[in-house]
Amino acid sequence: MRGRFITFEGIDGAGKSTHLDWFGEQLKSRSIPVVCTREPGGSDLAEQVRELLLHRPMSLETELLLVFAARRDHLERTIRPALVRGQWVLCDRFTDSTYAYQGGGRGAPTEQIATLESWVHPGLKPDRTYLFHVDPAIAAARRTQARAADRFESEDDAFFGRVAAGYARRVAADPDRFVVIDGTMSVVAIRELLEKDLASYC
Ligand code: TMP
Repeated sequence: MRGRFITFEGIDGAGKSTHLDWFGEQLKSRSIPVVCTREPGGSDLAEQVRELLLHRPMSLETELLLVFAARRDHLERTIRPALVRGQWVLCDRFTDSTYAYQGGGRGAPTEQIATLESWVHPGLKPDRTYLFHVDPAIAAARRTQARAADRFESEDDAFFGRVAAGYARRVAADPDRFVVIDGTMSVVAIRELLEKDLASYC
């Protein structure tokens, strides 16, 4: 049986990554074999592409193609082998990020993204996606307390508003896959919610 593919999404500063690590520990404590990974990145080659994406100036077209090139390598080397072995894969961002950032945030046509998606990973979509939602202004305040901003983090609130709208369209198109979490809730409340949801399918 194939393992489960679970993704964590949200605008920069929404707090998803901390919860992904904790979720991984929950799975391990239930003796579920798990691989935690991220995008862009998650394989040697894709991690190198991540550096380019986060720090080098480039056109939207180049950005979109690099995101999917990195994804293809990540899928071939990390995600698919783990799923075939029966491991669960927890991935910090996946193709919903592309629809939200390159599509919503930067204005790439949805059909173009859909074409690349069906070419790079036909038939594969996450079994569950946790979307952390916070107001762009709150997320911006959280980000300034973190490390130096990269190409995406240094975008303004209007950009992140468009990214959030891109995510909202993804949820509307596939509501059963998504669990939308208010990222301003306490860590304890978010963990309770995640635990309850996990119990519903595990
Ligand atoms: P991270 O800081 O959550 O690891 O994500 C790195 C950045 O990459 C984040 O600002 C969003 C961006 N990104 C895209 O623009 N498109 C994508 O498809 C993915 C996976 C990430």
